[in-house]
Amino acid sequence: MPQILRSFRALASELLKAGTIKVIGSLTQEHERHQLLQFKQRIEETARNKKTDIVLALDFPYQNPQNRNELLAKALAVLEAVHPYVCALKINHHLVLPLGTFDGVQTLVNQAHDQGLQVIIDCKANDIGNTNRTIAEYYFEAGFDALIANPFVGWQEGLKPIFTAAGQQNRGVILLTYMSHKGATEGYGQIVIDPQTSKPIAQYLAFAQRVLKWKADGAIVGATMPKKIREIHGVLGRRVPIYSPGVGAQGGNAETARKAGARYLIVGREITMANDPAVVAKRMASMQEQ
Ligand code: XMP
Repeated sequence: MPQILRSFRALASELLKAGTIKVIGSLTQEHERHQLLQFKQRIEETARNKKTDIVLALDFPYQNPQNRNELLAKALAVLEAVHPYVCALKINHHLVLPLGTFDGVQTLVNQAHDQGLQVIIDCKANDIGNTNRTIAEYYFEAGFDALIANPFVGWQEGLKPIFTAAGQQNRGVILLTYMSHKGATEGYGQIVIDPQTSKPIAQYLAFAQRVLKWKADGAIVGATMPKKIREIHGVLGRRVPIYSPGVGAQGGNAETARKAGARYLIVGREITMANDPAVVAKRMASMQEQ
């Protein structure tokens, strides 16, 4: 090869390398900037950029644990197909129990992060503070960006250690405020005496106030309860987003929940059990824009 041609090739390759390095450098910077945001801002930015308010609940029915490799393969395949149409992944006991947190589940968390998704653990932490802290530490170590907790256990020696751990590691805490199943009325719907005012107040409104007081990153209100979404949205305003599970399989309607004030829809079986999960997720996400 003539010398001039060799030099030209070497120069082209150097330029290419420099350009590539620049692109990788700016991608890394962008990733670091995004990671420095609070969880609430990270998921909002992802949802806005991707134009989707859908949080994928990656749940599957019970399978013999001996088949857990197939379960993991199925979960990875659904996530791969659906990720362009969702802003976050939510994982529950359906996968934590058979796959294990630091084995299969962490593989899913890593894949979701590579796809630019936020990842939420739906552990509904509900114990004494010491146990709650340990739960949070393990899930944060596995890479989860936020966890769901139950305000029924209170602050002191209850949820405070979770909020402390989350604050130290820049993770989020989302509080149950009104669950999506029928029996939720028995707990979240009961009338209690507000210790501050000594006046009666609905339990879910007291929890909505705690969402603000404890600076939670989100409130969960069932899509099956649009009136409650509206009322709780009235307390939270735009300060704290409402996450709404219960669309589809549990009978909740996506549009009704959105109109009532839900910012994110948590959707499981409607997507994971569909013949073509990506088609359903795409349709649900695109309805947001109409
Ligand atoms: P489906 O299949 O019903 O799945 O779309 C919903 C997912 O969300 C969980 N879920 C809840 N999680 N508060 C929560 O924190 C709720 O009120 C609630 N309702 C449903 C459910 O376990 C499943 O993972």
